[in-house]
Amino acid sequence: MRFTYICNDCGQEYDTDAVMYRCPACTAEAPEFGTFQKGNLIVRLNPEDLALVACKEHVSMYDFFPYPVVDQEVYPVGNTPIVRPRRLAQKYKLPGLFFKMDSALPSGSFKDRASQLIAAQAIALGEHKIALASTGNAGAAMSCAGAAYGLEIVLFVPETAPVNKLMQSVLYGATVVPVKGTYDDAFALSIVYTERFGGINRNTAYNPMTIEGKKSVSIELFEQLGRTTPDVVYVPVGDGCIFAGVFKGFYDLKQAGLIDQLPKLVCVQSTASNAISQAWRTGAFKVVEATTKADSISVSSPANGRMAVRYIQESDGWSTEVTDEEILEAQLELTREAGVFVEPAAACAWAGIRHDVKLLREEFGEDVRICALLTGTGFKDMAVFNGRVSLPESIENSVQAVVKRFS
Ligand SMILES: Cc1ncc(COP(=O)(O)O)c(C=O)c1O
Repeated sequence: MRFTYICNDCGQEYDTDAVMYRCPACTAEAPEFGTFQKGNLIVRLNPEDLALVACKEHVSMYDFFPYPVVDQEVYPVGNTPIVRPRRLAQKYKLPGLFFKMDSALPSGSFKDRASQLIAAQAIALGEHKIALASTGNAGAAMSCAGAAYGLEIVLFVPETAPVNKLMQSVLYGATVVPVKGTYDDAFALSIVYTERFGGINRNTAYNPMTIEGKKSVSIELFEQLGRTTPDVVYVPVGDGCIFAGVFKGFYDLKQAGLIDQLPKLVCVQSTASNAISQAWRTGAFKVVEATTKADSISVSSPANGRMAVRYIQESDGWSTEVTDEEILEAQLELTREAGVFVEPAAACAWAGIRHDVKLLREEFGEDVRICALLTGTGFKDMAVFNGRVSLPESIENSVQAVVKRFS
């Protein structure tokens, strides 16, 4: 699929086959202190190529990708199941509720979608090394893709990232560089790395192909739902890259003439990491101090904040904020009443629906088709249960002990 890049902020178009990151015009000067970065690029697909895709009886994400994905089964990304959580649907009187289980992707998070396309970009351009910064999941996903395809991965992470996520990347064979600093610090250092030592940089939103890869979820949903879309999609948001990817997938389907209308997209953030939500509410793109326990969505200065705010508006969606307590409650409820075990960031999407349940029923009626994007498996961060849930004490190996335990 042929494509060009277009700047989200100034609209400048760039027609090139070379790797591009942010818009040179918008990043010539550093952003004003305390405000969101400008200059994220959008990948615009060639309209004639899109028209050809539209003639197909079934489409797949690969029809909409700017680079070919070779050997798809080497690193099989996509076709994640849909769960219809009957008990929760009854409890909240939302029969049209369903979950998209991206926790089932190869490395256990949504980030495999972006990593698949970045690996394809590297392979298409004959590049062997990929560097990135991550709060954990993107790193694990890229390291997983690196192991599958034989690519070298250099990963900068805040040293406080959950140990399971870091360990995953080490086990996949990546070069892991823990940084005594925040995710934003790791982000900046990884850019220094690629500028000095080469390789493709996969930083979320910095490389526009991350958003492009993430759009695959929407194309998949379209086919899974019998060539229709949900009415409302709830997305957990940190940097705003997944959100932009979800929008882009539906946008491309619309551009191809396969759907008439985009679903409403809801940005869900923790009140303790709400930069994008605040920006949507107030119109001011201000950095916040992020302290949420949902580590994957703990972002002070969102790397794709401006585009995310624009897409909330363009999808006629909204932003919902939930407290960390609501997120952790939602996580346990999913586990206990739907058999769905996800990490706190993913549970944030469900917490958003619980928070909005009255509004959803009143605005859209009971039959509204609502999708929560569940973006990461619960095994990623077991430490979050410390002090909340503990293992029961062992009993003696005796009949009397069983009788005592259950009498
Ligand atoms: C599991 C999970 N959910 C949600 C997000 C938020 O995505 P974004 O930072 O693109 O908004 C992330 C990002 O790391 C994640 O790993």
